[in-house]
Parts: sequence; structure tokens; C-alpha cells
Amino acid sequence: MASRIEALRRVPIFAELGDDDLQCVADAVNEVEVPAGQLLVQPGAPGSGMFFIVEGTAVVETKHGEVELGPGQFFGELALMKPDAIRTARVRAGTPLRCLALDRASFRRLVATNPDVAAALIEVALGRLAENAGVDDG
Ligand code: CMP
Repeated sequence: MASRIEALRRVPIFAELGDDDLQCVADAVNEVEVPAGQLLVQPGAPGSGMFFIVEGTAVVETKHGEVELGPGQFFGELALMKPDAIRTARVRAGTPLRCLALDRASFRRLVATNPDVAAALIEVALGRLAENAGVDDG
């Protein structure tokens, strides 16, 4: 796998992170590799981590259809941010998929020490929740 640091540099929410902070994230993640079609996240299940995509695509099955996510994007953040910690959608690998997984404790450290990352995460998460709720801004 490309170095974790290289992979994390491609994640837009980490754009403003310095080398030391990015190294902390790189040290905290675990590499996950799954074949096409494998389920990664089950709706209704409690969530204990989030995933940053390094290679391949993940398919999110929302109420309104499928959303494909690719390298630099992430999933699984909502269960880490909601009080009930419950997954909101099914996610499967659309192709062979390589991800970096961040557990809840490391996620909390990351957002506690990097407000810019927290703000960027909130923006994406709220956009997704709004999309799933059918809120349209026009
Ligand atoms: P979580 O609820 O933990 O697990 C399912 C994940 O699917 C969720 O976190 C988000 O990361 C992702 N997800 C849910 N809805 C959408 C959406 N509309 N667009 C992209 N990703 C989504």
C-alpha cells in the first residue's frame, strides 16, 4: 500500500494538517483490505470506527439510491458523531477496496486537537444527513 501519509495527504479534510498531526493520524489507523462486494457497515448496528478510502470504491446504499465514494473520501463518521452511535446506511466495497480505519478513541483525539478537521468533518456529515433527510436547499 502507498505510504499511509501519502494516502492521508489525499484526504481533503486533512488538507490543513501539519506533518506531525498527520503522522499522529497515520500512527492511529489500521489498514483494511476487502474484496469487491464485501459489506463493511450494516445499518442499525453500533459503529466503532470510520474509514478513509485509499484505493477502490465503496458504495453507500441510502434511502434515495446508491452513492459511490472513492480515494480521499471517507465513510462511517456519522455513527461516531451521533449520540446513539448507530450506523445510518449499508456500505459495501464496489471494487477491491483498501481503507485506513480509525477507531472511536482516536477519532475523538483527532477532533479534539484539530478544530479545522472537526469543522470539515461536520460539514460533510451534515451534508450527508441533509441529503438523506431529503432536505433541498433550493
Ligand atoms: P455511518 O452512519 O456511521 O455508516 C454508514 C455511512 O454511510 C455513514 O456513516 C456515512 O459515512 C455514509 N453515508 C450515509 N449517507 C450518505 C450519503 N448521502 N452520501 C455519502 N455517504 C453517506
